[in-house]
Amino acid sequence: MIKPHGSEQLMPLYVADDSERAALAVEAQNLTAITISSAAAANAVMLAAGYFTPLTGYMNLMDSLSVAQKLHTVDGLFWPVPIVNLVENASDIEVGQRIALKDPNVEGNPVLAVMQIDAIESVSDAQMDSMVEQIFGTLDGNHPGVAAFRSQGNIMLSGAIQVLNYSYFQADFPDTYRTAVEIRAEMESLGWEKAVAFQTRNPMHRAHEELCRMALEDLGADGCLVHMLLGKLKPGDIPADVRDASIRKMVELYFAPNSVMVTGYGFDMLYAGPREAVLHAVFRQNCGCTHLIVGRDHAGVGDYYGAFDAQTIFDEKVPADALEIEIYNADHTAYSKKLDKVVMMKDAPDHSKEDFVLLSGTKVREMLGNGIAPPPEFSRPEVAKILMDYYQSL
Ligand code: ADX
Repeated sequence: MIKPHGSEQLMPLYVADDSERAALAVEAQNLTAITISSAAAANAVMLAAGYFTPLTGYMNLMDSLSVAQKLHTVDGLFWPVPIVNLVENASDIEVGQRIALKDPNVEGNPVLAVMQIDAIESVSDAQMDSMVEQIFGTLDGNHPGVAAFRSQGNIMLSGAIQVLNYSYFQADFPDTYRTAVEIRAEMESLGWEKAVAFQTRNPMHRAHEELCRMALEDLGADGCLVHMLLGKLKPGDIPADVRDASIRKMVELYFAPNSVMVTGYGFDMLYAGPREAVLHAVFRQNCGCTHLIVGRDHAGVGDYYGAFDAQTIFDEKVPADALEIEIYNADHTAYSKKLDKVVMMKDAPDHSKEDFVLLSGTKVREMLGNGIAPPPEFSRPEVAKILMDYYQSL
């Protein structure tokens, strides 16, 4: 199986040994505690699950600036997005201390992790702007990822962490949430050598379904890992439980048994387009996938990125030897009325726009909200039903 990023083995920071974890939880009761941001908690959950191998904790300012600017840590590890713990106030904390990190997303704010404080650094406005611009490609405060990043504060706490649990993800999504460790084990038991990952934060319509099928066939892959984001999204995006139900239904009805694994990971959406696509590749390699599908406007929002910027970044900013996982580039995909099937537009050069069934996200939401199913060429009826029920319950 493909090796994890920068390591022979996965390095999950979840403390798996029961007695060690219990001792850590007891220690945490007497430590200075802070409630961290949702983004920092999501980073801890990803570190816990092995997705962020080989990182051992939160980055310091030098590494964060270097990663934002050059996609490498100071020591030369390839990494596309700073993995940070930014807070507003650290007046109770000292370098060298161990502190408890409380979970902002679970009632009662239980301890999520214990952190060894290596540095407490103040991020200047210029440094913050530089990071934001490099990660998100914009300084616009209306960009949901920029707004979330800036809202955390400008004091950077760095150091190793040991994680006690997977926040709300295991309890809320018991069938779908997986760690990278679990995904590797599951793929091994299924005998998948070549596996293609499909990143998603949306329900899957016909175009998405066919992209998975095309990738499976073109690559001769053993299976497709549908890997959905289960963390926080911007308002208006479809909640994870509804997406999960619609994706499961689609896979159950339209894919051969054991050819697709429906899974999810606990992370908040960054909407960082190209940079997030590279992060997606890193953590799918950590899952053991050999390929990642990157299509149109991958991890994008609004008009901040070009439709295929998330593909070109792999040619322009990712050194050839940085990652082992390969990218399966997908062109804009839609149902062709002429050919009676879903195709990539580049494969139908004689078509005009009218030859495709194209519906905007806004139009689809409007139809579903009014109890009108999109045409079956766009959306499987069983998927449309689940989405209509959701929109009509609002
Ligand atoms: S994402 O933010 O998680 O990337 P989404 O769930 O909408 O969003 O997309 C999942 C994947 O499908 C991404 O790789 C995206 O580029 C791709 N994709 C979505 N729609 C299309 C389409 N019509 N044509 C080609 N690729 C698409």
